[in-house]
Amino acid sequence: MAYRTRALTPADTDAARHLGREAFGMPDADRPDQDPPDGSPWPGPGSHALGTFAGAELAARAVALELGTWFAGRELRTCGIAGMTVAAEHRGRGLTHPLLTELLLAARDRGEVIATLFATAPGIYRRLGFEMITTVDQVQLPVSSAAAVPPGDPVRLRRATAADAPALRDCYRDWARVRQGPLTRTGAAEQVSDEDLIGDQDAVTLAVSEAGEILGYACWDRGTLSERTLTVTELVAHTPQAYRSLWRMAGAFAMKVDRVLLHAPAGDVARTFLPAKHWQVVAQEPYMLRVLDLPAALAARGSRGSGQVRITVAGDELGLVNGTFQITADGGELSCEPSAPAEGPPVLTAGGLSLAVSGAFSCADLRASGHLTGGDARTDRTLEDLLHAPPWQIRDTF
Ligand SMILES: CC(C)(COP(=O)(O)OP(=O)(O)OC[C@H]1O[C@@H](n2cnc3c(N)ncnc32)[C@H](O)[C@@H]1OP(=O)(O)O)[C@@H](O)C(=O)NCCC(=O)NCCS
Repeated sequence: MAYRTRALTPADTDAARHLGREAFGMPDADRPDQDPPDGSPWPGPGSHALGTFAGAELAARAVALELGTWFAGRELRTCGIAGMTVAAEHRGRGLTHPLLTELLLAARDRGEVIATLFATAPGIYRRLGFEMITTVDQVQLPVSSAAAVPPGDPVRLRRATAADAPALRDCYRDWARVRQGPLTRTGAAEQVSDEDLIGDQDAVTLAVSEAGEILGYACWDRGTLSERTLTVTELVAHTPQAYRSLWRMAGAFAMKVDRVLLHAPAGDVARTFLPAKHWQVVAQEPYMLRVLDLPAALAARGSRGSGQVRITVAGDELGLVNGTFQITADGGELSCEPSAPAEGPPVLTAGGLSLAVSGAFSCADLRASGHLTGGDARTDRTLEDLLHAPPWQIRDTF
């Protein structure tokens, strides 16, 4: 069968919506690209949709979202891939890779330096150089565990209104910008109106200082009586007192709720305030990354280390990061120059580069997983020194 790929336009909205619904059961409020409210433009601002057609039939589609990633105060222009869908009758014919390749090459041409995605099946994306660098988790704990958190005085709690939306956005931004991985919530992830930001869940509870400064917040949904679960879709805090107050707020539901379900980045610091061991991860969304432009990604990312190392990257099917590079860290900056091919430097796969640039794997783990060969103990140490990063934390799914 002959297939043809082209950009999707508003005229394709119904077909794209239909395919999304079939595959994902959309609409889903957590997936902004999928199923926009009736009448809203699709693809939305900062979104680029591609479709593969068999004649007039839409056989596959995927969307690239213009996003930003915080990396210790710096911003990495990011292509977020979402909504990869192949119609049931056209599956297994290799439609995904050409479609994704075209989306990723266009993203690199726009100046996006990394691409990320949430993968139902990570296996689909590995050949394209994506590797899993963290997860977004759903964590369950008994409400009694939250109720047992000591008080967070003198922090006060109050219900947010639409007037608090700008301060709420600032509170998230202050949390996110000094960490590795959170979205900037700009571009295609730009948040909705002030009213929707507050009203999209049952409530947003603010933790405020005596002077009225917002020190943290929890977005929560009470759910139904029979579920007996309080779902906290976002818990962000800047001080221990704010964390404690927000946990105790969740614990105060104990009479009619048995458990708290928290949406949290992997390794969320919120856990350290719980006196009991309960922290059951009941669902995980694997977050994968690949590098689109190595010199630009490293320059944007910077480094806390110093020194220089030469690496070779081989086997990138997209041909975007193959080659030999001299990487130098100096005063927080990280530069990367193409270099003549040479014998002896460490050789990374494209996936290994994803894991190294994000700081997700040590060189020992890169070697054990087959992503790193060549080089020696000295180059391993330098590579780790230049690219080390604390674990990534992300709260948004797309
Ligand atoms: C996932 C989906 C897009 C795959 O479509 P497809 O037509 O089978 O994909 P392709 O034929 O292009 O196969 C691409 C590769 O992924 C692999 N693959 C496909 N489905 C897979 C799965 N569920 N788990 C692991 N690998 C899978 C194929 O073996 C192939 O590997 P290869 O390149 O090494 O040969 C399709 O099943 C779908 O639309 N599912 C519903 C929506 C969905 O889950 N989307 C994914 C969101 S992350």
